[in-house]
Amino acid sequence: MPLNAKPILPRFGAECSGLDLTKPLSADEIRQVTDAMDTYGVCIYRDTGLTDEQHVAFSRNFGYLERVPVREGARMRLPLRELFDASNLTVDGEITTDVAAIQYRKGDRLWHTDSAFMEKRTSYSLLLAHQVPKEGGETWFADTRSAYEDLPQETKDFLEDKIGVNSLWWSRKMAGADIAEEEIDARFKARHPLVHVHRGSGRKTLFIAAHTMDIEGMPKEEGRALIRQLVEHCTQPQYTFSVKWNEGDLVIWDNLCSMHRGGDFDYEREKRDMRRTTVREGTEPHTLDLDDPFTKLFAETPKTVDIQRARVEGR
Ligand SMILES: [Fe+2]
Repeated sequence: MPLNAKPILPRFGAECSGLDLTKPLSADEIRQVTDAMDTYGVCIYRDTGLTDEQHVAFSRNFGYLERVPVREGARMRLPLRELFDASNLTVDGEITTDVAAIQYRKGDRLWHTDSAFMEKRTSYSLLLAHQVPKEGGETWFADTRSAYEDLPQETKDFLEDKIGVNSLWWSRKMAGADIAEEEIDARFKARHPLVHVHRGSGRKTLFIAAHTMDIEGMPKEEGRALIRQLVEHCTQPQYTFSVKWNEGDLVIWDNLCSMHRGGDFDYEREKRDMRRTTVREGTEPHTLDLDDPFTKLFAETPKTVDIQRARVEGR
């Protein structure tokens, strides 16, 4: 049965059905998945029945999978390094009370694109729901291609060739973590064009995120005001929708033509177990031996949001 994609907004987001993602897909079926992604940017597959291993195997169809950073002595909750833990759980599966972990996750509630703070960007994120709260915990998505197309021509002209400076720690500071700007400046920042041509569709799109700290060549205050304005523009109701999750649902989003953010839920009382694979931009399927820059980046984590330190020290 061919893939059926039912649009959510006219040019953004689709509920997809017709493929069994637990089985190896043919080249034609994989092309149907990527075609839907190029058209809609966000695709929702309900009740997939995917296991951790099948989640990783399906994700590998789209390129190299980024791997979770490791630190000596740290235990991991999830069995595969390709699975990023987006839950509110400890390694033992209990709701975390660790302040650094809670502070770190608050950054996910801001509009962002995954890994915009890395030199190599992430293309697809594939998030699978294992356990969901009774209320809340939805994920919101914003269409940065249509939002770009609707900008006034003079704004488009101004943004052309502008470079955004991105830091993971900036987004955590914006979410309330106690991190000095000097601490952020001492760590790695990634430079990415604010506007690029989305490869799969040929449409131009904005590339901004909560990680976008400054715009090169602009005074800090002016650049930050412009970043805020652009995020507000992209997240107007005509460009956004939310996904209400059920266990087994998989959502794939293309970070290179969208933004997203997590919705609130009762973080201290409800378990939310979400696991994510992420594909590195421009890589081929089944590439296995790329470098792993996350480990180096996370080794320099500011103390206030250091989840891994908490794991090593067993807090
Ligand atoms: Fe995210």
